[in-house]
Amino acid sequence: MTGNEDRICELRERGTLASEDLRELLSTLAPTEEELLYESAREVRERWYGKDVYLRGLVEFTSWCRNDCYYCGLRRSNARAERYRLSERQVLSCCDQGYDLGFRTFVLQGGDDARCTDELVCGIVRQIRDRHPDCAVTLSIGERPRSSYEAYFAAGAERYLLRQETSNPAHYRMLHPPGLTIESRKRCLADLKDIGYQVGCGIMVGTPHQTWDHVVEDLLYMRGFQPHMVGIGPFIPHKDTPFRDEPRGTLGDTLHLLAVVRLMLPQVLLPATTALGTIDPQGRELGILAGANVLMPNLSPRDVRGKYLLYDGKARVADEAVACDLQLGRRIARMGYELAWGRGDHASRCGAAVR
Ligand code: 5AD
Repeated sequence: MTGNEDRICELRERGTLASEDLRELLSTLAPTEEELLYESAREVRERWYGKDVYLRGLVEFTSWCRNDCYYCGLRRSNARAERYRLSERQVLSCCDQGYDLGFRTFVLQGGDDARCTDELVCGIVRQIRDRHPDCAVTLSIGERPRSSYEAYFAAGAERYLLRQETSNPAHYRMLHPPGLTIESRKRCLADLKDIGYQVGCGIMVGTPHQTWDHVVEDLLYMRGFQPHMVGIGPFIPHKDTPFRDEPRGTLGDTLHLLAVVRLMLPQVLLPATTALGTIDPQGRELGILAGANVLMPNLSPRDVRGKYLLYDGKARVADEAVACDLQLGRRIARMGYELAWGRGDHASRCGAAVR
């Protein structure tokens, strides 16, 4: 293949490229080619989702975690992390408030909290679905046995987010302590899909020791796995972790990868993440312009928002997060996009009537 313009066209038309071409495309784009990449990504997202930007209300319900991932501020060894666990009543009240604001999807996210039993999770999911049958519930609570995933699904959770972080086994070991393996992570992702969830995987961009070859491996894994959602954000160091002195991932690399993922997985639900909004005040708007089509405003109670710190400088922990994010929504509307308040299912789950 001759140049990156050809690679972009090929990727847009066929949804894949040979790994050497993907690597070239990731590592050697000139500014004009970059613009073509974003334009192509927008065109493909509009083919499936028009100008809609889906909203998810995020509830960060526990900051306890039994894992010790080297990058994460919630890691077990971080004695400085302030821990909290919302009561069932608090979670429901966040969702009720979100419902009144117009949200029809709630994402319950937490550390890998040993006290967060299947019974507790199922109880909360069931109650949200009872109170708001028109809403979708997404869980993001880490690796669990298949039987637990089955129980949550039976209780009414329909979506699950679990990033693989990196598909390369050696790189995975550089980011995680012994005991956590990429094989187990992929097993969980396969189980979730098999059970019938809409599944999200994803990676951080610019983690220590990450190379473009690793990213190509991630792209090929995602192409094979065909997730419904992909979460991509820059790595940002946290001061109380072993990676405190490592450089953060860049805005350019993150946007670039969002666009490539959009071309590879045309129907994917792709959030412009909080981490992206943290490294640049306009990060999320730029994410939408690079092919993202989801925003996840934070519905957690104000007094705990400053305690769910995966990385330093997390955006909008102090102020009125939802109001702020809704302002972002207005800015996005001015860019020609439209906030979509529905459940926002994956295109494959709602036939032609996506909107
Ligand atoms: N920087 C950016 N993202 C992080 N995450 C965890 N720690 C960090 C960090 N330091 C991401 C991981 C995880 C998701 C919930 O947050 O990718 O899957």
